[in-house]
Amino acid sequence: MADRRSRTVNVRMWLAGAMVVLMGAGCTPMDDVLVSIFGRSMREQPSFNPYENPQPSPEGSVPFASGNFPSGPGVVNLGEAAGQAPPPPITPLMVLQSAPEVTDLENPIASDANSLDRGEELFLRSCAPCHGEAGDGAGTVTEFGVPAFSLIEGEALERTDGYIYSIIRVGRGGMPAYGHQLTHYDRWHLVNYVRELQGDLPGEGSAEAESDSAEN
Ligand code: HEC
Repeated sequence: MADRRSRTVNVRMWLAGAMVVLMGAGCTPMDDVLVSIFGRSMREQPSFNPYENPQPSPEGSVPFASGNFPSGPGVVNLGEAAGQAPPPPITPLMVLQSAPEVTDLENPIASDANSLDRGEELFLRSCAPCHGEAGDGAGTVTEFGVPAFSLIEGEALERTDGYIYSIIRVGRGGMPAYGHQLTHYDRWHLVNYVRELQGDLPGEGSAEAESDSAEN
């Protein structure tokens, strides 16, 4: 009995050993056979070989992680243009307290058609899921328990541009921080677009727009 069991074990070990040897040495000769039949094998393919140099970037391409983009996840992107002073550091506490550094921050981007186009694209991508396409708080995720928050009525109408810029950068309560995902100027384009949504309101908003243009 004991003899037969040890013989079975021996045979199994021999088979396993043979398979390891075949698997290790089998590839290249098998590739050669495939090449002789089909003219090619999977050994020849466009993927990188170990230690092969990557291809140089095409001429004129701009690195994604440069200039106006943050250097990494969680890093607040300031993206100041050359020669321009970086915006001051802003903390969530400063936003909660409506500190003057937050509320008095000046909007450097004119609200022209280009800015509003860019703002709309970003708003639909990053903000509409919660705030709704019209900014009225009817975003799709509110169906799944995220609290609705309208940007076109109540407090939000009273906020300064600097406040809206800052809340996009550092967040507040249920509002996530976008400092590491949206660039400095993209945040200002969003401010302009939120203003546009607020101005589109019938009644109060358009009356404000009228008095604005009367002042100018
Ligand atoms: C995950 C859902 C969510 C997303 C995405 C989101 N927000 Fe919010 N936002 C909120 C919530 C919730 C509040 C209310 C925060 C609080 O209770 O303090 C808020 C508050 C705000 C406020 C403050 C309004 C006020 O009256 O003080 C502004 C401005 C704002 N969001 C703009 C944006 C913009 C612009 C984007 C896109 C970059 C965006 N939000 C993306 C959920 C979201």
